[in-house]
Amino acid sequence: MSKIAEPTRGPILRLVGLHKSFDSLKVLSDVSLDFEAGQTTVILGPSGTGKSVLLKHIVGLLRPDRGEVWFDGQRIDQMSAPQLVAPRKKIGFLFQMGALFDSMNVRENICFPLVEHANLSYQEQSRRCASVLKAVGLEGIEKKMPIDLSGGQRKRVALARAIVLEPQVMLYDEPTTGLDPIRSDVINELILSLSKRLGITSIVVTHDMVSAKKIADRMVMLYDGKIVADAKPDVFLAIEDDRVQRFVNGQADAQDLERIQHGFD
Ligand SMILES: Nc1ncnc2c1ncn2[C@@H]1O[C@H](COP(=O)(O)OP(=O)(O)O)[C@@H](O)[C@H]1O
Ligand SMILES: [Mg+2]
Repeated sequence: MSKIAEPTRGPILRLVGLHKSFDSLKVLSDVSLDFEAGQTTVILGPSGTGKSVLLKHIVGLLRPDRGEVWFDGQRIDQMSAPQLVAPRKKIGFLFQMGALFDSMNVRENICFPLVEHANLSYQEQSRRCASVLKAVGLEGIEKKMPIDLSGGQRKRVALARAIVLEPQVMLYDEPTTGLDPIRSDVINELILSLSKRLGITSIVVTHDMVSAKKIADRMVMLYDGKIVADAKPDVFLAIEDDRVQRFVNGQADAQDLERIQHGFD
């Protein structure tokens, strides 16, 4: 299809009035967000506020009790598992734990989505594997096992696996948690370069403000399952709302302290 004939398509991803509860626990409450193609949105918020649950709705790992999820002009929240295969290929997900398969080497880990979803020759798989390893700065480690890698390297291999199907949208769940500042910054740079070089739309859940300030085109704050702030970084950081300012400045409130004292988090 020629570029000119293509109508303006609006946001690549839309969440419309999402509600989600687990039994009596209300987690998401009327969450609506539109994501423009190519933008990096950082989702901030305290632990247990529904950030991971929100990301899981975008890839159909969870279904809303109410509301809609639209991806690239298609409603996906009601799709069956086979129907979801196609949109899911276009949405990469770096999970909170960045889990690799321990029994597989780096190449097998990275090629796993290709084997599942793409009909490629062994040579083409190897080429793609080498290319994504290069993109995350880990050339030539195909034969290594996950146990032989540092935490930061494992994250980068997981990221390489998440981008091997060349997604349009990348979801990152706390990509820098557990990494030291230098390794965190490597991940930030990778998120930036993927978004700029490949035009990937990124949604990054984090409570790392250094990372957020570096990568965000837009900041959204989720608090108790609701969007309480949504703005460009410079505007967001100046929002006069206690919940936002406490978070931005890394100050715990009474509720946070109670959570920690009770061993949650
Ligand atoms: N599959 C599930 N079943 C029951 N409760 C869940 C499930 N997933 C998440 N929760 C609960 O939903 C709340 C929000 O979780 P989550 O989105 O993981 O928080 P966070 O903002 O830290 O990522 C938490 O109280 C969590 O225990
Ligand atoms: Mg989480």
